[in-house]
Amino acid sequence: MTPTQYGDHELGWLKLYGPVYRLKNCFGQDRLMVADPAALNYIANSPQFKPSPMQENMLYLLFGRKSLPCVPVEEHKSLRAALNVGFTAAAVRSYQPIFEKAASRLTEELDKSPSRIDICSLLSFAMLSIIGEAVLGQSPEELGEELIRNNFEIVAVAASQSREQILAEAIGSRLPAWLFHAVAHLPTQTFRTIRDAKRLAYELGNRIVEEKLVSARNGLDTDADVFGVLLNLDASDTTKNGLPGDVVAAQTALFLVAGQETTATTLVLGLRALAQLPEFQARLRSEITANAGQIAYDSMPLLNAFIKETLRMFPVVPIDDRIAREDTIIPLSEKITLSTGEEISHICIEKGQIVSMAIAAFQRLESRWGKDAHEFNPNRWLQGSAYRGAEALGPYANLMSFLGGPHTCLGWRFAVFEMQVFICELVRQFSFALPENDTVRIRLATALIPVMSNGQKGAPMIVSRIS
Ligand code: HEM
Repeated sequence: MTPTQYGDHELGWLKLYGPVYRLKNCFGQDRLMVADPAALNYIANSPQFKPSPMQENMLYLLFGRKSLPCVPVEEHKSLRAALNVGFTAAAVRSYQPIFEKAASRLTEELDKSPSRIDICSLLSFAMLSIIGEAVLGQSPEELGEELIRNNFEIVAVAASQSREQILAEAIGSRLPAWLFHAVAHLPTQTFRTIRDAKRLAYELGNRIVEEKLVSARNGLDTDADVFGVLLNLDASDTTKNGLPGDVVAAQTALFLVAGQETTATTLVLGLRALAQLPEFQARLRSEITANAGQIAYDSMPLLNAFIKETLRMFPVVPIDDRIAREDTIIPLSEKITLSTGEEISHICIEKGQIVSMAIAAFQRLESRWGKDAHEFNPNRWLQGSAYRGAEALGPYANLMSFLGGPHTCLGWRFAVFEMQVFICELVRQFSFALPENDTVRIRLATALIPVMSNGQKGAPMIVSRIS
């Protein structure tokens, strides 16, 4: 049975069975669900685990074999280090004018819209335009109508999760890679949309690289965006080598997909939670107004508490699957009691075991986040870290929303900064409330998404200008 809201089952099982338990998938496939912090750290960081076969198939299909998540493990570290140049704290700060311009365009859109408005598509488009400008150096017009249309189709494909799709995934995870790729050439609408996305991103990436080479030859600046920084075409800078054009171009589909809906959905779910806390919303607005002018985003306690709490409660990737490459032993933070009554402090697993990193469940553990772990309460972050464990997890606030280990989200600083800028711009100028008959539910499709009663992705809100 498909759950009505994400977490109805999983968070119930967490209460019943604790942070580690076994589950049977479609076709009786055995899966170990893990929310224990030491175990999560081990799985995310250990070379004994890699993405599950279905994940590998999908990543390859969407992003191509030269994209960061798909390159062989021995190439991943050096490619990641090279790409990270465009995502350091300093690099991300330099995109601030682009983020602020996109946020201000969004407020203009809101001014033109009725007060009851679906904020999903507006935020999706805003995040796409940021990836266009800050990563690729392209305005929305330059991205082209076909790519923008296809991007919305991809989001729609990712948003649908019928019973048939769950079954297809279960079958897909059992196909060898060559057969899965052959199936992906079937003339169905879904596969056509995915193939088009890859082709359009490939064409766009190569065009951008060509244009940058021409600009550099003409002595123009080319490093105002991530692609320019990665190519490093400034001949006078001999301190670092740029990446080859084909390697940079091959990341286009990845950045377009990984960087857009993730941030847009996090913002949507955060704004919905904020709408349910009018008193906190007013305090946050006062903090933003008091900082207007020169905004020091990192020094605003309420703003950052709100962002951390949003990421804790709504990790858009709430479950991340891995498969064991070898027999291995997973350590546990706390002993667990087996159905036989035996107590264990580690779990022995065999090669080929599917392990689900239960990120959302970890972020609701009462032992780590307190008795009110299931409540959206940004105040928990106001006295330092809200985390009560000894483990250090993830790159930000002990959260696993951006994962951790070698595949940690490359764009996590970029995403946090985008959210800081957008929340400040939006909450300063508008108030957010839920419509009286709010029926939106959070569902897990490819990632978490808000879904309306008609099954479509969307989140209508009442957005009113302040004064
Ligand atoms: C709130 C927003 C975001 C969230 C919650 C998020 C979450 C994640 C997660 C969980 C992963 C690991 C997936 C896995 O290995 O199974 C990931 C990977 C990645 N993300 Fe993000 N992401 C966000 C925004 C962004 C942005 C804005 C960008 C780029 C502009 C980005 C670029 C990437 C890339 C390139 C990877 C692949 C890293 C690798 O394989 O080494 N993400 N993200």
